Amino acid sequence: MVVSEGVSVKPIEIRNVVVVGTGLMGTGVAQVALVAGYNVSMVGRVQEKCDAARAKILGGLIKNAKKKYPNDDKAQNDYLDNILARLTLTTDVFEVLENCDVVIEAIVENLKVKQKFFADIEASISEECIMVTNTSSFLLKDVADKITRKHQFAGLHFFNPVPAMKLVEVIDGEETSPAVFSALHEFCKTLLKTPVRCEDTPGFIVNHLLIPYLLEAMRMAERGDATREGIDTAMKLGASHPMGPFELSDYIGLDTMKFVIDGWHIRFPDDPRYVPSESLDELVAEGKLGRKTGEGFFKY
Ligand code: 3HC
Repeated sequence: MVVSEGVSVKPIEIRNVVVVGTGLMGTGVAQVALVAGYNVSMVGRVQEKCDAARAKILGGLIKNAKKKYPNDDKAQNDYLDNILARLTLTTDVFEVLENCDVVIEAIVENLKVKQKFFADIEASISEECIMVTNTSSFLLKDVADKITRKHQFAGLHFFNPVPAMKLVEVIDGEETSPAVFSALHEFCKTLLKTPVRCEDTPGFIVNHLLIPYLLEAMRMAERGDATREGIDTAMKLGASHPMGPFELSDYIGLDTMKFVIDGWHIRFPDDPRYVPSESLDELVAEGKLGRKTGEGFFKY
């Protein structure tokens, strides 16, 4: 984005938010947007995913309610009713696009699927509606490859668990309009997050630094330099990280980790930082995807 000095940008008002994807990220983003007062429509692939997303959000909101109104059941229930009244769930994205101000895509980390999603919805959104990807590893310019209104497109990279993590990377694509960037920057603040601007670069800030670190921890254990438990303890106690690299990888999801690493390895085959890890690949092949499946590097 290029803003000339003295040029004022007409603000875009955000009230109605559509979140597509009912995984960890989608439910987390929907929850924080609901708490901040937005009307939120969530889109899932099937009804069961929508039901599970609603239950997950309700669980998070109950946590908030208990913290906010301890020992006051009525106030807790009112808080939940008020928030849940602004949540809609559907399996048909086209049902909720008409009055939508921002569509946040948090679907599988697969470039073709993301490109198709935006190409499909582009004709059904308003001239002002912002299209956002929560990609963690693709370039915005690739995700937006099949759309024409690229000035309405940007990235918001949230972190897991979304309700607890204070950062959002706001990705300012080459063609993102100043009004869109500034609306998203303000939107993040209303979610009580700290927005940090980043150019459209691989992994943005956090994953660019984090993924090579996590991979190096895997290689260290594969070489037998130290155990997984030892490495985790060392990074928690020696570097004050809340989780060690193996616990964190299990938390992120080993399938997600593999999507990111394989994508970067294909793109940058000579870069030693992105060489896939054998132990990670084996666990994914066995369906051990981390905390969400009960086992990854560790058992839960
Ligand atoms: N809804 C509402 N609030 C929630 C919540 C939810 N679903 N989940 C957690 N919280 C709140 C808790 O209520 C608590 O609030 P409080 O501090 O006001 O009491 C706060 O968040 C912390 O939660 P907990 O007390 O349950 O948990 P811990 O203190 O044990 O911390 C942790 C858990 C936040 C997960 C911490 O271990 C941590 O920071 N781990 C590292 C996480 C990390 O690095 N994430 C980034 C991963 S990379 C990524 O996401 C990018 C991707 O692209 C790969």
